[in-house]
Amino acid sequence: MHRRRFLQTTLGGFAGIAGLNALPLRTRRWPAHGGKPVSPEDTAFWQQVRNQFPLTRKRIYLNTGGLGPSPYPVIDTVRRKTDTLERISESGHTHALWQEVKSSCARLLGCSPEELALTRNTTEGINIVCHGLPLEAGDEVITSTHEHVGNTLAWLLRQKKDGIRIRTFEPSMLSAQENVQRIEKLITPRTRVLSLMHVSTATGHVLPLRTIGELAKQHKLWFFVDGAQAAGMLPVDLAEIGCHAWATSGHKWLLGPKGTGLLYVRKDMLDTISAQWIGAYSNSGTFDIRTGEFHLHPSAQRYEYGTVNTALVAGLGAAARFLLDIGPENIWRHNLALANKLRAGLRELGCEDLSAQYPEGSSAMVTFRVPGMARAEVQNLLASKYKLRTRGVYEGGLDGVRISLHLFNSFEEIDRIIEAVAAIKKHRK
Ligand SMILES: Cc1ncc(COP(=O)(O)O)c(C=O)c1O
Repeated sequence: MHRRRFLQTTLGGFAGIAGLNALPLRTRRWPAHGGKPVSPEDTAFWQQVRNQFPLTRKRIYLNTGGLGPSPYPVIDTVRRKTDTLERISESGHTHALWQEVKSSCARLLGCSPEELALTRNTTEGINIVCHGLPLEAGDEVITSTHEHVGNTLAWLLRQKKDGIRIRTFEPSMLSAQENVQRIEKLITPRTRVLSLMHVSTATGHVLPLRTIGELAKQHKLWFFVDGAQAAGMLPVDLAEIGCHAWATSGHKWLLGPKGTGLLYVRKDMLDTISAQWIGAYSNSGTFDIRTGEFHLHPSAQRYEYGTVNTALVAGLGAAARFLLDIGPENIWRHNLALANKLRAGLRELGCEDLSAQYPEGSSAMVTFRVPGMARAEVQNLLASKYKLRTRGVYEGGLDGVRISLHLFNSFEEIDRIIEAVAAIKKHRK
């Protein structure tokens, strides 16, 4: 087949399935909102937000916890930057752009731009912290049994390589205080680090980080937080949490380009968490192979190295600005209102709610089980018959179905999820 025709046919076929044919090439302008308060019930506003996403309407997307779809302002920024840079074959890596992107992200996260490093994902940030902390054989790290594999394997590797000891607690789904007590019970004179999720990937459980931060301070422990499921879902104030380091992904709730991430390292921790992989951009001023002289960058930029995709970095900045403009508090109230409605509906149907059972522990992710039905059966039926893209939860032997609700989801979609679960339950009887 003629190469051009072949490409047109093949790409046309895939694009057709994903509904990409409808994707306009130019930005649909987002009318600046300025973060003004808006009600979760303001359907016209949230519909306008939804219209910013080329995300297919052939199914309901409920897996932002896995991967977040990008809106036009992000997609168009990446496209335009790629176009410009490919025409001149330049990397486009400028101090001005990096500063602009980090400033937008810092405003969203409550830190200073100098405390942020750009990474490829949360896992990279976790590894930088885990392998950069000065730990010795016998030093102890406290973590939970509900962590994502990303916040587990790095510590297991250090345990194997360096003889540190990992101590775990099972998070309580019933009370914030109980979680703090379970952590406190594990603290010994050898404890050095608390490494905890901000929001659980398995259940959407939000840990009481401020109180845990105080506990860490009291016992002089380094406190690292895995924020993969938090940034973009709920307002994050890193200064208030009081953690020493925190990592997230750009491609989940931040709705940024895939393969982007952010690592926060508190200013006073830059020399404690030593950079293990360094190269161009990690240094500041001169270096000399003969004298051995080099200086690490005075900011968290020291954790960045080598050539990266500038278009993705620019897209991450656009994502942060998009969320700031809608307003982190507005997004959180909207997402939580949807999740609460869903939780109530599922409970009425007799489903088992695996999410935290105390209000401050709840988030925009809902994990549930349908009694008498296996997780895979529920998930497959929801996908094949009702076009609902959910995520199965197997972590910690939970065997549930997880639903993530973000700013492009709607109350109408919640009704459709509840109807679908009711129908599969009835069908099963
Ligand atoms: C809590 C948590 N940590 C880490 C990760 C890993 O994220 P990434 O693959 O972007 O590194 C995830 C992904 O789902 C997660 O939920």
